[in-house]
Amino acid sequence: MSEPTAVYSPGLEGVIAGETAICCVEQGKLLYRGYDIADLAQHATFEEVAFLLLHGELPSAEELALFRHQIDGERELPGAVIDVLRAIPRQAPMMDVLRTGVSLCGNFSSAKSQGKSSLLTRAVRVLAEVPALIATRLRVLDGKAPIQPKPGLSHAGQFIHLTYGRDPTALEEQILNLTLVLYAEHEFNASTFAARVCTSTLSGLHSSVVAAIGTLKGPLHGGANEAAIQLINRFTSGPEARAWTEEALDKKQKIMGFGHRVYRNGDHRAFILEPYVDELAKMRNEPWRADVYHAIKQVVWDKKKLYPNVDYPCGLVYFLLGFPIDIYTPLFVMSRVSGWCAHIIEQHENNRLIRPRSQYIGPPLREYVPLAAR
Ligand SMILES: CC(C)(COP(=O)(O)OP(=O)(O)OC[C@H]1O[C@@H](n2cnc3c(N)ncnc32)[C@H](O)[C@@H]1OP(=O)(O)O)[C@@H](O)C(=O)NCCC(=O)NCCS
Repeated sequence: MSEPTAVYSPGLEGVIAGETAICCVEQGKLLYRGYDIADLAQHATFEEVAFLLLHGELPSAEELALFRHQIDGERELPGAVIDVLRAIPRQAPMMDVLRTGVSLCGNFSSAKSQGKSSLLTRAVRVLAEVPALIATRLRVLDGKAPIQPKPGLSHAGQFIHLTYGRDPTALEEQILNLTLVLYAEHEFNASTFAARVCTSTLSGLHSSVVAAIGTLKGPLHGGANEAAIQLINRFTSGPEARAWTEEALDKKQKIMGFGHRVYRNGDHRAFILEPYVDELAKMRNEPWRADVYHAIKQVVWDKKKLYPNVDYPCGLVYFLLGFPIDIYTPLFVMSRVSGWCAHIIEQHENNRLIRPRSQYIGPPLREYVPLAAR
């Protein structure tokens, strides 16, 4: 047994917990496999990004067509899964439904080995399963029948089709695709780390993804996009939002969607997404929503010198696109599952059990007291 050597860091802040070639998160840059997030956000589809994360290189046109065809081939959920989506109580949060749904889908996969090609096959399945699970659950809650996938649509477009039974508008498809690109990967964040810990025990891919979904759900992580819009929706004007935020910060409350463990000078992804807040609020003729957004942001900056992270604009962008709030973190899963799967594969390729030590702060050695004497 090895003795602990390193200095204890609460929350593992600043600790290097492993190596990765998938993503680089630094103050000055966010790179997926070496590509700048700003370039990918401007030019790439989510499917290209998912392929890049999983395979290490951007796909050729042929490779991309095959990848999209493979995902399309896995979009239909087994009947037993749809039955469970109907049986789960209405009030269950969508993240919990998704966690159960992905776990259940794992039982229908025949590719069980831990070899790379088997893991890639399962990654494609889970990429297809997540949007199908979210869309189907929304439909059954509405008393509607699930919809057959329409091959050939983009991943973002397919989600709109499976949910609403229509093709996406160009703007819906563009912005949903953009958020999927921005959310896809972020190095050793909590959910990815959970997936890697689970993988390091040689558990299966679906188990690792389930561990990651449970971890992403919390408001300090992916749940922040839902918490952020719930905050924005409390107010109908900038001054109202400003007054509340000042008071909340004076009371040392945390404002969801602000701050970041790694970024101290702002989150690249938030900067990219923010212009769409104003554009969409204007288009929907709801300018007060943008006013509230900017008012809260200004107060958090003035009082705490904190920047918004990606979840702050994303919550409002999803709201302005008309999505139900309960699916914002699940949409994050729909994207991040690509990064998780890339990390699961990378962990397998160079695996060592992740098992850190703790610093003991309990009582010193003491004598057992028999029950009759206590
Ligand atoms: C992301 C987060 C967990 C990172 O936290 P961290 O690195 O552990 O930093 P801490 O929580 O220790 O915060 C450091 C200081 O900033 C403050 N702070 C950090 N985020 C804050 C927020 N969102 N609102 C108000 N104050 C915040 C803390 O209160 C603390 O202040 P203090 O030194 O006066 O006590 C944190 O910023 C947070 O909780 N943000 C809100 C949730 C969120 O948006 N999560 C999504 C992340 S992408």
